[in-house]
Amino acid sequence: MKPFILVTGGTGYIGSHTVIQLQQKEYPVVILDNLSNSSPVVLDRIASITGNRPAFVEGDIRDRDLVRQLFRDYAVSDVIHFAGLKAVGEGEAEPLRYYDNNVSGSLALFQEMEAAGVFSIIFSSSATVYGNPGYSRFTEETPLNPVNVYGDTKKMVEDILRAAKRAQPVWQVALLRYFNPVGAHVSGMIGEDPAGIPNNLMPFITQVAVGKREKLSVFGNDWPTPDGTGRRDYIHVEDLASAHLAALNKLQGGESFLTVNVGTGRPYSVLEMVAAFEKASGKTIPYQFAARRAGDIAECYADPALAKTLLGWQAQHDVNRMCADSWRWQKNNPVGYE
Ligand code: NAD
Ligand code: UFG
Repeated sequence: MKPFILVTGGTGYIGSHTVIQLQQKEYPVVILDNLSNSSPVVLDRIASITGNRPAFVEGDIRDRDLVRQLFRDYAVSDVIHFAGLKAVGEGEAEPLRYYDNNVSGSLALFQEMEAAGVFSIIFSSSATVYGNPGYSRFTEETPLNPVNVYGDTKKMVEDILRAAKRAQPVWQVALLRYFNPVGAHVSGMIGEDPAGIPNNLMPFITQVAVGKREKLSVFGNDWPTPDGTGRRDYIHVEDLASAHLAALNKLQGGESFLTVNVGTGRPYSVLEMVAAFEKASGKTIPYQFAARRAGDIAECYADPALAKTLLGWQAQHDVNRMCADSWRWQKNNPVGYE
C-alpha cells in the first residue's frame, strides 16, 4: 500500500477540498483535526463524494503523545499542515492562544515529524505575511512584514521551517501563500462553514443571500481603488486544493524547498464580487457602506508567475464559477454542516 498523506486540519474548509483531490488521485489520507472549527459530518460528505472515508484521528497537533502514536500507526510520507486558527481580529484579542495554537502547535508537529523520520511538509501560509508593502502586486520577493498577530504566526512558522531546512537538508518544504479562497466543491456537499458571524466577505454574502443576515456592510468606499472598495485576489478553493497536489508532486519528485504565491493574479473589488454573486445566484444582496475595517489594506493580489513556472499550476476557475459554487453550497446547506 502507498504511504499515507497526513492532513492536519483536514476536516476544515481548505483541508476537506484537498483531501477529496488526494483521494481521487489514490493517495491514502489520514486526517488529524481537533474539530475546533470543523464538523465530523465532513468525513461522511468526503466519503460520499469519493467513495472512500479517510482515516481520522481526532486530536490536537500540540498533543505530542497522540501525534507520536499517529506516526506509529500510519506510515506517513508527507504532511500537509492546514491546522491553525485564522481569524485576524480574534488573533489581536487573544494573541497568546494564537501563538500557542499556530506556532507551538506547528513546532510540536515538526518535532514529532523529525522523530518519526518524516521530513516532507506543505505549510498553509498566507498573503498576510506581506503586510502592507505600499504596492498591490505581491511577488514571493515582497518583504515579509506582517501587521497582525495571525500574520506573524504564519511568518514565524515559515521562519522555523527555513531554519530547519538550513540545519537539516533532509527537510523538503513547500510554503504556499494563499490569497483569498472562496467557492466550494461542485457537488454542493462541502464548503465553508464559519462559526458565528463570518469575518470574510464571501461567506457573509452567501449568508445574506440565504436570508440568515440582513445586509452586507462594505468596509469603506473611499479606498484608492477604481470604485473605492477594497480589492482582493479571490481564488477558487478547488484551484487552491490542486496547488497542494502540484506541490506534493514536486516534493515527491525530489524538490527540496518551494515558496509560492497561490492566487489568480486578478483582483476584484467588494462591489464587483457583490455583482458577480448576484449574477450567479439570481439573488439581490442588499448592502450599506460602513467605516473601513481596522487593519485592512486597499488592494492586494498575487503575482502568480512562479507557481506556473515551478509547479506547472495556474488557477482555472473564474469569479462566476467561484460565486456559483459558493451559492450552491450555501443554498443546499443553509445552516452549514449542522
Ligand atoms: P478552517 O478553520 O476551516 O480549517 C482549519 C482546521 O484546523 C479546522 O478543521 C480546525 O478544527 C483545525 N485545527 C485548528 N487548530 C488545531 C489544532 N491545534 N490541532 C488540530 N486541529 C486544529 O480554516 P481554512 O480556511 O481551511 O484554513 C486552513 C489553513 O489555511 C489555516 O492554517 C489558515 O490559517 C490558512 N489560510 C487560510 C486562508 C483563508 O482565507 N481561509 C487564507 C490563508 C491561509
Ligand atoms: N469586506 C467587507 N465586508 C465584510 C467582509 C469583508 O467589505 O463583511 C471586505 C474587506 O474590507 C476586504 C474584502 O472584503 O476589502 C475581503 O475581506 P476578507 O475578510 O474576505 O479577506 P481579507 O483579505 O481581509 O483576509 C483574508 C483572510 C486572511 C488571509 C487573507 C489572505 O481573512 O486570513 O485573506 O489574503 F490571510
